[in-house]
This record gives sequence, structure tokens and C-alpha cells, in this order.
Amino acid sequence: MNLDLKDRTFLVTAASRGLGFSVAKSLMNEGAEVIICGRTEESLKRATKALGTSAHYYVTDLSKKEDVVKLVRNIADESDQIDGLFVNAGGPPPGTFSNLSDDDWKKAIDLTLMSAVWLTREALPLLKMSNSPSILYSTSISVKQPIDNLLLSNAIRPAVIGMMRTLASELAPYNIRVNAICPGYISTERTEQLMAASESGVENINAKIPLGRMGTPEEFGPVCAFLLSPVASYIHGAILLVDGGLYQGMM
Ligand SMILES: NC(=O)c1ccc[n+]([C@@H]2O[C@H](COP(=O)([O-])OP(=O)(O)OC[C@H]3O[C@@H](n4cnc5c(N)ncnc54)[C@H](OP(=O)(O)O)[C@@H]3O)[C@@H](O)[C@H]2O)c1
Repeated sequence: MNLDLKDRTFLVTAASRGLGFSVAKSLMNEGAEVIICGRTEESLKRATKALGTSAHYYVTDLSKKEDVVKLVRNIADESDQIDGLFVNAGGPPPGTFSNLSDDDWKKAIDLTLMSAVWLTREALPLLKMSNSPSILYSTSISVKQPIDNLLLSNAIRPAVIGMMRTLASELAPYNIRVNAICPGYISTERTEQLMAASESGVENINAKIPLGRMGTPEEFGPVCAFLLSPVASYIHGAILLVDGGLYQGMM
């Protein structure tokens, strides 16, 4: 299938490794140009080298509004258009209600919710210039069912879904599609760290997943590239799980 991504430009945030990197790679494999960001220049250099000459990076801390504004203004200085935005950020720290402070909550809100607000607001003028603009919010299976010891993710990510579902109406007049993708367990540094900090090992997690294993970034990136592409032109306001069947609710 030709995803019609050649000569299109995408901003893929938090993409020096893990899920973001897999999305950037999948978009580039289809001929797109990508702009990635992250906090660490060395990792971004390595990632853009691995991605190839159509990849560019900006050092950005997505939990800081001024960084997000600067990121998109820098992009706007180079080009008056982007065709898609993959909204992703680092994960909030683990924790339970009794051991999370107000400061933990505020930081997690900036990282997980406000980064999505700022990115959307800043990128809208550039997206409006595209003939097939779309935004894909990367959230988590935690928006469907809570994950033990990840209270901040369980509580804050659903707000991103609420925003996305509202934007599906508000941005439709501009033909800007919005969707959300919800990974279950995909093997990345983040999942390795969570496994190391948790009492339930990989075997226990795998036993809960009907497909019997965690997913790989290569099973995640192409799905996102499809949803961001013009081929998905009638998929709008959707919430798609990539979880090997882990979520077992009826809806
Ligand atoms: N992997 C999964 O199974 C899974 C499942 C559900 C949800 N998620 C969520 O998906 C997101 C990505 O997860 P991942 O597994 O890809 O994690 P990862 O392998 O740890 O990669 C995280 C990426 O985000 C960047 N990053 C972290 N904090 C940032 C910040 N404040 N500003 C800009 N960039 C930042 C990192 O680069 P720097 O450190 O250099 O900034 C890195 O490129 C997280 O929010 C995670 O909670 C993951």
C-alpha cells in the first residue's frame, strides 16, 4: 500500500528512541521528512544519523512551554507547513496516591497534558497549510483501564483523550484529522525501567497479554504512520489500542 507520504513533513516529538523513534522511522521509510525532538542532543544526533538525511532535530523539553513554542517557531522559520504531528512525551513517574506529592502531579500535568495542548496550539497554523493534515496523540492503554502503580498516567492521560475527542469536532472544519493511539506494553527503555521497578516481572506481564508477549516498536510505528497518512482520510476521532489483546473490555 502506498501511504502517499513522499514529500510530506511530520513533527514527531520525544523521538530519540522508543515509540517516537519507531514512528519517525516508519514515516521516513515511506518517503516522508521528519523533525524529531528530545532533551538530549547526543541521543538526537544518534537518532537522526540512524534515520538518514531527511531527519532533523531540535533539543526540546516538552514539559516547558517556552521550549515547545521555540520548537515550533524554529520549524516555522524553515517551512510554512507541516503535514502531521505525532504527540508523544516521556512517561510520568510511577507511584501510588500515598507517595505522590503536589509537585509530582503538577510536573506530570505539564509533561503529559500541557505538552499536548502547547504542541497542538503552536502547530495548528502550520497544519492548516497542508492538504492532508493530521494529529496523532500517543497515550496508553491506561486511558481504558488503570495500570497498577502508574496513578499519574491513569489520571492524566484520559484528559488528552477528552481534548482529542473535542478537537475532532473543533478542527473538522479545517479538515485536520485527530486520533489517539494507545500502546499496551511495547519493549522500549521505558518498559524495561518499569519492569525493573516493579514486582511483577516480564513473565507475569506476558501471561496477561492474550498474544503472550510484549509488542515491538516495529509493530507500533507503521500503524501510526498509516493513521497519520492521507490513506486514513476517513479515520477521525478514533482511539486505537496496540496491545496484543491486553484490554478486554467490550468497548
Ligand atoms: N513503551 C510502552 O509500552 C508504552 C506504553 C504506554 C505508554 N507509553 C508512553 O509512551 C511514551 C514513550 O514511551 P517509550 O517507551 O518510547 O519511552 P522511552 O523509550 O523511554 O523514550 C522516551 C523518549 O522521550 C524523550 N523524552 C523524555 N522526556 C522528554 C521531555 N520532557 N521532553 C522531550 N522529550 C522527552 C526521550 O529522550 P530524552 O530522554 O533525551 O529527552 C526519548 O526519546 C511515554 O510517555 C510512555 O509512558 C509507553
